[in-house]
Amino acid sequence: MNRPHAPPLRGSLPPEGADLAWGGPAPDRRSPVTLADHEQRARELLDPGAWAYLFGGAADEITRRENTEAWQRQRLRPRVLQPLAGGHTRCTLLGRTLAHPILVAPMAYQRLAHPQGERASALASAVLGAGYVLSTQASVLLEEVAPLVLDEPARGPLWFQLYLRPARDETLSLVRRAEAAGFEALVLTVDAPVQGPRDRERRAGFQLPPGIAAVNLPPPVHPTAARGSLFDTLLRSSPTWEDLTWLRGQTTLPILLKGITHPDDAHLAVGHGASGLIVSNHGGRTLDTMPATATLLPDIVAAASGRVPVLVDGGIRRGTDVFKALALGASAVLVGRPVLHGLATDGAQGVAHVLRLLIDELEIAMALCGCHSPDQISARHLHA
Ligand code: FNR
Ligand code: LAC
Repeated sequence: MNRPHAPPLRGSLPPEGADLAWGGPAPDRRSPVTLADHEQRARELLDPGAWAYLFGGAADEITRRENTEAWQRQRLRPRVLQPLAGGHTRCTLLGRTLAHPILVAPMAYQRLAHPQGERASALASAVLGAGYVLSTQASVLLEEVAPLVLDEPARGPLWFQLYLRPARDETLSLVRRAEAAGFEALVLTVDAPVQGPRDRERRAGFQLPPGIAAVNLPPPVHPTAARGSLFDTLLRSSPTWEDLTWLRGQTTLPILLKGITHPDDAHLAVGHGASGLIVSNHGGRTLDTMPATATLLPDIVAAASGRVPVLVDGGIRRGTDVFKALALGASAVLVGRPVLHGLATDGAQGVAHVLRLLIDELEIAMALCGCHSPDQISARHLHA
């Protein structure tokens, strides 16, 4: 099977009517061919306030930048003349087979990027076989999103990201709705008891526009004028390990913890019944100057020691980055901002194109490293 290694990559979604077959008309010069192209285009299209929210990180954005750079710094060490016929990207996660190890990370308020918001990103993910994680702060009802995914035969897993609510009955009501709608696991985000300082957003004067809200939650109660330390106000009801014990007793859905970066927490999480760990620094949006996730991953994989799968997100922008994450022991990766960039550039089509590019690039990376399936990818493919 001699696949040309030049573009167009299989499955690119050309503009309506365009013929990208070899010998066909030249593609539009401005058609995105990488995730970076989608980012550039989204930056041009989006309102500056929305861009500041969707793209930004906390404080000086050191962690946001380093997430990407750390994957780029890793060097690959291929094997040659390995049999590649019949190769594939399939892998297993929580007892099911996935078409490939790529999921879409939970991200709030996606209608900021496109009027269809989560409807479009969920549908595109399902068609491309990518897992989809819906945010607690989604801007579309969870009951509306779930069937779009569940009705697609090629779909990947459908998970619901949970922020624990100050009142347990509110948390429980979200969990029951997610269960009833058909979500297959909960992703409990544990790294954001408060938001990080979003200086870029504040400089841009970003506020949610009318009509875009966290529609799955009760309307926010606006803080009273009373001021005090964060610890006496917002953090009075911040979640603890006891809340995880409580949650574990309330549902039979698997619970993955998102935002695990310390090996001691990895041990606690497994001890408290977590079914999976997601190594994440929230895309650099919470605590700035945390290390890049590529550098945190190996210690968490070691701490999990095969008891539960470890996933990772932050800065994944190329198929080679996915490959490197698997080489460092991740079972799968989640992709955040690039999905929003695709959404901003072309709705569901744009998201599908972003995912298609990543999957195609992963296949190429695997072939060039001599791996015919994800389980062959190992640390031996990294240059120390
Ligand atoms: C996020 N992230 C996030 N995480 C979460 O658990 N719940 C949420 O509601 C959100 N919301 C959110 C909004 C936006 C605009 C972004 C960019 C991110 C974090 C997200 O799930 C993921 O951890 C990072 O985005 C991964 O990094 P990359 O791929 O964006 O670099
Ligand atoms: C964010 C929150 C919603 O990162 O998690 O914007």
